[in-house]
Amino acid sequence: MVAGAAVAAAVLVSLNATGAPAAPVASVAPVAAAGQDAAVQGGNADTLRALAKRAGLKIGTAVDMSALNNDATYKDRVAAEFNSVTAENVMKWSEIEPTRGVLNFGPADQLVAFAKANGQSVRGHTLLWHSQLPGWLTEGVASGDIDSAELRQLLKQHVFDVAGHFRGKIYQWDVANEVIGDNGQLRDTIWLQKLGPGYIADVFRWAHQADPKAKLYINDYNVEGLNAKADAYYELVKQLKADRVPIHGFGMQGHLGVQFGFDGRALQNVQRFEALGLETSFTEVDVRMLMPADNPKLHAQANGYSILLRACLLAKKCTSFTVWGFTDKYSWVPGFFTGQGAANLLDENFGQKPAYQAVKETLALAG
Ligand code: G3I
Repeated sequence: MVAGAAVAAAVLVSLNATGAPAAPVASVAPVAAAGQDAAVQGGNADTLRALAKRAGLKIGTAVDMSALNNDATYKDRVAAEFNSVTAENVMKWSEIEPTRGVLNFGPADQLVAFAKANGQSVRGHTLLWHSQLPGWLTEGVASGDIDSAELRQLLKQHVFDVAGHFRGKIYQWDVANEVIGDNGQLRDTIWLQKLGPGYIADVFRWAHQADPKAKLYINDYNVEGLNAKADAYYELVKQLKADRVPIHGFGMQGHLGVQFGFDGRALQNVQRFEALGLETSFTEVDVRMLMPADNPKLHAQANGYSILLRACLLAKKCTSFTVWGFTDKYSWVPGFFTGQGAANLLDENFGQKPAYQAVKETLALAG
């Protein structure tokens, strides 16, 4: 961190203690296409990406490819506000290999090309997960047609296919996603059932072979503060490091809810993983609320975003902060949590919410 940042750090620390939310702001019109190039390259000093660049941080968003292709304002905002992007779905196994042996990298390649054209880095998501697996794989395992040896070979092939295809184009890979359950035990998935706990170390070793430059992350939700699940990851990571497994980062998704309150100990959690020699990132941040939204909830939401961002900025090796979508117009939340929503920085008309202002002010403090 540069000298001025010491002052900023002091301010961030004091804020970390009080968590005072930002004042409300009026919504602004989307950026005119004409000034796009300057804004894209961070020329517009008032964007999240320009402020994050000054703070030495990657600020990112999950990208919905159908919105990117069909909504010009969405596309403008992705390019203008973020210097990192994550594929919300198109790098997942079910999307890349819906038919066995037929790989569809088209949509993901399009995102990588978009990122390159806009001076953005790409986070890879995700090589191994228990969800969004192709039907042919889960049905084959369920019927017994695919036995453990074949499943292990298929997983290995998948890691080499995907990490190999994007070799040198991904700065951080979510190699293993959600491998520990909310009970703090290894999640009971086909991977654990058929391959045993060693599958986690295997995918990291394969991913490292396939793309030696990418930072390899283990990623999960409900691990932002100090709790049993985060403790279980701490022990798992310690063991993987002891076994010389090439794991480089701990990813905290950050799917929060105003109604649950926020664990103010995110910084302590981040610091203990960094003490194990890992870098850290917040990878899928959103703060949902019980609808309808109102001012107290919107300001509490702003505080939720700030708590995680301040922890990241105060930490030594927190390298990226990604939101899981940035506008309420495109969000996974209402479809998964009935009666909940409004989880993002901008409203459904791309208007700036208190959360957007809070993120901007927090970044400005660090730069
Ligand atoms: O691609 C199919 C399409 O062919 C079909 O017509 C359509 C209708 O059913 O479904 C499409 O698949 C949907 C997919 O998103 C792509 O849009 C799935 O139904 C839908 O379940 C899937 O939701 C994604 C969810 O992961 C799946 O679990 C969300 O968009 C995505 O935001 C969410 O992201 C996860 C992270 O990967 C991991 N951490 C939690 C996070 C939120 O659940």
